Amino acid sequence: MGLLGSSSSCSSLVAVVLVLNVAVVCNGGKTSTFVRKVEIGNDMPLDSDVFQIPSGYNAPQQVHITQGDHVGKAVIVSWVTVDEPGSSTVNYWSENSKEKKQAQGKVVTYKFTNYTSGFIHHTTIRKLKFSTKYYYEVGIGHTPRQFWFTTPPEVGPDVPYTFGLIGDLGQTFDSNMTLTHYELNPQKGKTVLYVGDLSYADRYPNHDNVRWDTWGRFVERSVAYQPWIWTAGNHEIDFVPEIGETKPFKPYTHRYHVPYKASNSTAPFWYSIKRASAYIIVLASYSAYGTYTPQYKWLEAELQKVDRTETPWLIVLMHAPWYNSYNHHYMEGETMRVTFEKWFVDKKVDVVFAGHVHAYERSNHVSGVYSTGIGHKGALPLRRSL
Ligand SMILES: [Fe+2]
Repeated sequence: MGLLGSSSSCSSLVAVVLVLNVAVVCNGGKTSTFVRKVEIGNDMPLDSDVFQIPSGYNAPQQVHITQGDHVGKAVIVSWVTVDEPGSSTVNYWSENSKEKKQAQGKVVTYKFTNYTSGFIHHTTIRKLKFSTKYYYEVGIGHTPRQFWFTTPPEVGPDVPYTFGLIGDLGQTFDSNMTLTHYELNPQKGKTVLYVGDLSYADRYPNHDNVRWDTWGRFVERSVAYQPWIWTAGNHEIDFVPEIGETKPFKPYTHRYHVPYKASNSTAPFWYSIKRASAYIIVLASYSAYGTYTPQYKWLEAELQKVDRTETPWLIVLMHAPWYNSYNHHYMEGETMRVTFEKWFVDKKVDVVFAGHVHAYERSNHVSGVYSTGIGHKGALPLRRSL
């Protein structure tokens, strides 16, 4: 959870007796020499090498995978063809077996004002073995392309696993640095927890969906080889009634499928998965979450299903953070915090990851902080540890 900002802004607010405590809460240490630039980055131009279209007739592009069931024995493979629909078949085989199996999928398209998408394929491979490397091939019949992934270990308490964390990536020159930074990390993340805001295509006139395609090609070098667990952010909403686009999340939901039905969710914006020793709950900051809403009722039931003897780690992903001391997006997560925080405390959620705010913050466990302090004279934060 991001929280509370610099020690100077915190300590100036509270009584002396709390300074030691505040200093501990506010100072999470320094783990990087990276200093963010002040200016907003420019998007990489359309002819950048990272956006290169693979050669060959109807060659699959924008290949990406995510977990395809609740426990990690299935993978959703998605890709785009542009010349014709072609085949939605995925050929796959394990490292130790040359016998190719096939999975069949489906193809979807969508229009967004004057933009027409390519043919977007989604094919789920099921009944995979745990801890196994698989090769897979898409573009069957025209220009096949081959990739691979490794399935996670069977869900259980004693299976170490390494997650990466990325959010708000976009497609600027800095985005490329961020992705490279992740790829070169010696810890070798096996799965990315993606906390929302993908392409930022909505920064362009008519939300130029060509920028969804470039983003898909940009991140393929990682997401074709390891699953990214998707969370919807505000840049996925794409609600533009002035140009006739009144169905929110249209590009996102056509391009990025998630296994929401496997956790009895009724919408792809909130769902859960188990992976290795973690139970991961994805929440939707931009779908209704008030009392009695589908997301509220789902989460209420979902939290009862978590068995910490099986998955000792309980992780929640969301886009808008509940705690944020930065000026941008200040307190945008407050109403969701008020709605759900007590449940998180009661269920001893280990960690909450959020995006949205382009300034890194983290804190120890906190709850019940009704004001993060900035400009709120007299609001004394309340804190307690889990
Ligand atoms: Fe955002």
